[in-house]
Amino acid sequence: MSDISRIFAREVLDSRGRPTVEVDVFVGDNVAGRAMVPSGASTGAAEALELRDGDRQRYDGDGILRAVANVNDKIAPALIGADPADQCSLDAKLLALDPSPQKSELGANAILGVSLAAAHAGATVRRVPLYRHLCGCLKAVAGNSLAPLEPRMPLPMTNMISGGLHAGRNLDFQDVLVMPVAAPDMRTGLEWIVRVYKRLGKLLEAAGYEGRLVGDEGGYGPRLKSNEQAIEFVVRAIEAAQLRPGQDVTIALDVAASHFYDGASYRLASEGNSRLSSHEMIDRLERLVTKYPIASVEDGLAEEDWNGWQDLTRRLGHGVQIVGDDLFTTNPERLRRGIELRAANSVLVKVNQIGTLCETLATIILAREAGFSYVVSARSGETEDTTIADLAVGTAAKHIKIGSVVRSERLAKYNRLLRIESELLTCGRT
Ligand code: PGA
Ligand code: ZN
Repeated sequence: MSDISRIFAREVLDSRGRPTVEVDVFVGDNVAGRAMVPSGASTGAAEALELRDGDRQRYDGDGILRAVANVNDKIAPALIGADPADQCSLDAKLLALDPSPQKSELGANAILGVSLAAAHAGATVRRVPLYRHLCGCLKAVAGNSLAPLEPRMPLPMTNMISGGLHAGRNLDFQDVLVMPVAAPDMRTGLEWIVRVYKRLGKLLEAAGYEGRLVGDEGGYGPRLKSNEQAIEFVVRAIEAAQLRPGQDVTIALDVAASHFYDGASYRLASEGNSRLSSHEMIDRLERLVTKYPIASVEDGLAEEDWNGWQDLTRRLGHGVQIVGDDLFTTNPERLRRGIELRAANSVLVKVNQIGTLCETLATIILAREAGFSYVVSARSGETEDTTIADLAVGTAAKHIKIGSVVRSERLAKYNRLLRIESELLTCGRT
């Protein structure tokens, strides 16, 4: 008997102390799969809806008991008896239960919790690691359209300095990150990243800035004078770690520009609230990319500035990864538009932006077919759930973006990657 016998959801807490959905999927008498749902702060307008109770007596309205009830009362009865290994049929049932465009009836948090927990249960009944199961799911969604694909370790894109909505708007840009491009494997890459992170803390302190307080994702959150100064500090930290900026370790930015776009111009608080047009914002990014070893720029422009994105990609896209996060919200329709318009050349993949695993896989397939890279990403509100580590490996993502190398909700995922790497090495495949 390997059918789903029971599904049970509960309210648990995420890394910001906010309630989130946890789902258990049972096969027989045992929990065969469990997952917890992440939550963003700098969310894209086109994201699937996170259902919250709004009852101010509990968690200031942030409770998710309605989403929990939707799982237990509405979703569970429809999935009992289903095969947890058949992810696409399960997800199709979930979509049929809530056909609204942003999953606002049951809540994307309810739906995603079930979708992810079912994937864990599917791996359990198939007796394979989750990343192998997800690799199989990707192939099942793609049919024959996919070039041969095997699980592969991603390159981490790791937060060093946090700004924007993740650190009290200390800086306009949301993240300055590093990528250990020359590291031969994950363990080495992580050692390099931790070394850079520690050197950065010391450099910040020596310069009189706060080198201990961290933002939501574990990056340092100093009140620096400018976005550029943050990049400069990270370059110096790479050097202080005896690594070569641009060769051993490159830099990535998540500008998260939607959050300082007022509908007409980009307003940089760190530059006396100066207003930049789309064109000027691209000039600014071009200058930074030319001056520093920046290999990837995420959300360099706002989520509805499609013309600007086309321009940005034309000007920088040949040498730099141009990643759409708020722009695409992991949504196949939005990504299709981006591919047609040649806006961006890479997509950020966050499971809760779209709400089911199979739709996430559809986005990944579209990206692969178009030659876009994809970056599997955590949210700023996270839990000890490690599903995205397996998702990145199982779909052979180019990068994984988890946050920094402190805070256990981040380390749970890095440590899962280390476990997967040692497993793959033992099997003779990386
Ligand atoms: P979020 O931030 O989870 O708050 O949206 C992550 C990101 O923008 O990449
Ligand atoms: Zn982002």
